[in-house]
Amino acid sequence: MAEVYKNFIDGEWVESSSGETYENRNPANWDEVIGIFQRSTKEDVNAAIEAAQRAYKKWRLVPAPKRAEIIFKAAQMIVERKEELAKDMTREMGKILPETRGDVQEAIDMSFFIAGEGRRLYGFTTPSELPLKFQMSIRIPMGVAAIITPWNFPMAIPSWKIIPALVAGNTVVFKPATDTPLSAYNFVKILEEAGVPKGVINFVTGSGGVVGEALISHPYVKIISFTGSSEVGKHIGSKGASLFKKVSLEMGGKNAQIVMDDANLELAVDGATWGGFGTTGQRCTATSRVIVHKKVYKQFLDMFVERAKALKVGNGLDPSTDVGPLINEAQMNKVLSYIEIGKQEGAKLLLGGFRLTGGDYDKGWFVAPTIFADVDPDMRIAQEEIFGPVVSVIPADSLEHAIEIANNSKYGLSSSIYTNDVKNAFIAIRDIYTGITYVNAPTIGAEVHLPFGGVNQTGNGHREGGHTVIDIFTEWKSVYIDFSSRLQRAQIDTDKIVKVEE
Ligand code: UN1
Repeated sequence: MAEVYKNFIDGEWVESSSGETYENRNPANWDEVIGIFQRSTKEDVNAAIEAAQRAYKKWRLVPAPKRAEIIFKAAQMIVERKEELAKDMTREMGKILPETRGDVQEAIDMSFFIAGEGRRLYGFTTPSELPLKFQMSIRIPMGVAAIITPWNFPMAIPSWKIIPALVAGNTVVFKPATDTPLSAYNFVKILEEAGVPKGVINFVTGSGGVVGEALISHPYVKIISFTGSSEVGKHIGSKGASLFKKVSLEMGGKNAQIVMDDANLELAVDGATWGGFGTTGQRCTATSRVIVHKKVYKQFLDMFVERAKALKVGNGLDPSTDVGPLINEAQMNKVLSYIEIGKQEGAKLLLGGFRLTGGDYDKGWFVAPTIFADVDPDMRIAQEEIFGPVVSVIPADSLEHAIEIANNSKYGLSSSIYTNDVKNAFIAIRDIYTGITYVNAPTIGAEVHLPFGGVNQTGNGHREGGHTVIDIFTEWKSVYIDFSSRLQRAQIDTDKIVKVEE
């Protein structure tokens, strides 16, 4: 019998008031139940938010370096448990073990990096236009943060949000993706054990429709941080706007890798294979378009198909597997339907294009790595986010043409160019409109200490990662201290000759 996991509200592990639960299953073997989780209600969410609101009164007054000490401790505990955490993640999410180790590592990196912010949280000072007056801008915490995360990075993405929220002095109600609650539970358990006080972190599992909706509508919630689809992001953004909440959204991508005629093609194939099929294409940074200069188009395609053909699809716990399953049946069907759309649109199917069946494949949601060639930049498979192992290859006449195709997207998260010409590289950096550009590296693989996010429908102007994440989880307060002992009027008394006292 699978273990039953509870919600974490006000420092207690509790069942949902619904009395209902749901099963978390292994996408590589649907017969395997990983755990039973709470199907929570609005009442559970309200209880969590009220606990977070109470806890905020004290947590905000704990000195930031002290808050961060708990996070340093949690980071060290994740280091010690890395292997078991990665195994749990592969079982519930499907991606291969080296990748789930990477996911856990990203949570470690983020925790250490942001814990360091406990001794920074920099503000600034600036001179006044008036004498005997001091001024500064400081950061203040906000209150309760609602954190809503996706299943593709089950520990990394929660850490990007929860850790800065806590170090900055906010309290948190965390709703993980329904498909990956175990990694989320593991993360929260570590925070509890590391000493995060009661009510400061709360964990409520269940559906977006019930738990998510209750979270984004509650008057106590000051900041909503969401990573997921643009469709859901749009809903959260408009709801949040109508309630005057701060909303940070991180959404889809249709990331392009440009391959120039002067590129190292072996390296470009390495990049497209890892960027396109790593994590089974289920990254918002995944390479879903490869735009290749016509002079090397044929050669690149041959090499790319050859390489992708050799990828072994299977259970992510098997060390020989390169590509794991899709997260669930609905996601698999979505990917298969896009493959049909690509065929109908007239793209040339060069590899894959089908569900893998027979033997253990029948127990999970496996799709063969798929490559379409001669894709028109306006086709749906070149425009819409598929979130699966499907790569569209598009020919281009020149660098300018390639950049124009890359920019022909409603998204704008990540991009890459393979070239040995420094001029091409700098033109691409200047002209591709995305939040991230790689040179001679795939579109995936962001490090935690640089701003992460995108333009257009990928985001709404915020950047997680880097020092910029602190802007999401704090408000600025400007402070003016007049020690002149008289009324000094800004903008008005500045033209008077003011005698400065000794
Ligand atoms: C995501 O795809 O949702 O840059 C996040 C990367 C990872 C994070 C991806 N570090 O690919």
